[in-house]
Amino acid sequence: MTKPRLLAIGKYNDWDMPEMKSGFDLIEIANSPALSGLDPAARETVHAVAYKGHLPFGAAEMNLLPNLKIVANYGVGYDAIDVAAASARGIRVTNTPDVLNDDVADLAIGMLLAFTRNLMANANWLARGDWAEKGDPPLARKMSGARAGIMGLGRIGREIANRMAAFKMDIHYHSRSAKDTPEGWVWHPTPEGLAANCDYMVIALVGGKETEGYVSRKVIDALGPDAVVANISRGSTVDETALLDALEAGRIRGAALDVFRTEPRLDPRFLALDNVFLQPHQGSATNETRMGMGALQRANIVAHLAGKPLLTPVN
Ligand code: 8YV
Repeated sequence: MTKPRLLAIGKYNDWDMPEMKSGFDLIEIANSPALSGLDPAARETVHAVAYKGHLPFGAAEMNLLPNLKIVANYGVGYDAIDVAAASARGIRVTNTPDVLNDDVADLAIGMLLAFTRNLMANANWLARGDWAEKGDPPLARKMSGARAGIMGLGRIGREIANRMAAFKMDIHYHSRSAKDTPEGWVWHPTPEGLAANCDYMVIALVGGKETEGYVSRKVIDALGPDAVVANISRGSTVDETALLDALEAGRIRGAALDVFRTEPRLDPRFLALDNVFLQPHQGSATNETRMGMGALQRANIVAHLAGKPLLTPVN
């Protein structure tokens, strides 16, 4: 029996390749711009795309694949994929929600603690021999018991809030409408209202056009001088220039960031700051979670090819 043709776009993990190769007749390319270099005859045979990456996959790319029926995204955020263009062409889109919630939430907490307890600076203090030479490092700042702010109480935001509640923090959140939450969690109808009422604000919004610059200069200006911002969503959700201005001027205490507008190349202004803790977009990057994401991505493709309902459809 001939295997279905699958175009894998992006760099996958070693454990994904045997699965993809055994189940499908696989073509691999590094990223979406490489599509135009593929032989047109090969492009015509592609019914399914396994997409991994953050470069755009839009109408132009879809037009190069005239028989495309499904794009299965490796990731919960599908802002790289033009879903409207896909729907207009009868192409289904899937993503990988839920399997990564814990890891992304863990990272948000880890980054905030690393920042506020000076973990990096203190590890360096010890490694340099300063502990023995100079004594104890400067004191840090406490997170437990402070006010938490969650910008976007979706699946991941909820996991972050649950963790922060376990840290005895008062939970404040902003989302389009109030959610069914444990007693005492405070909904703020505006993002500025949330910013003005929290000490540790975590951005957990979905990416894409609707949240472009949602954490605006006005929102950043509403944060107090003691506030710390964490972002595990997308760089696009924040006015990065406004954030950098606030960090440079010391108008907020700091930022713990896993995502950036121009990643993987950062605005060099970030690298000159000492009130930041920066990570290379690694929210979901554990073996366990990446295995789950790959499995869910493939399960969606298999379901589609078998004419079964998609597990995690986007459109
Ligand atoms: C990426 C992510 O998918 O799930 C998301 O939305 O941002 C990540 O898990 C990952 O970097 C692979 O591209």
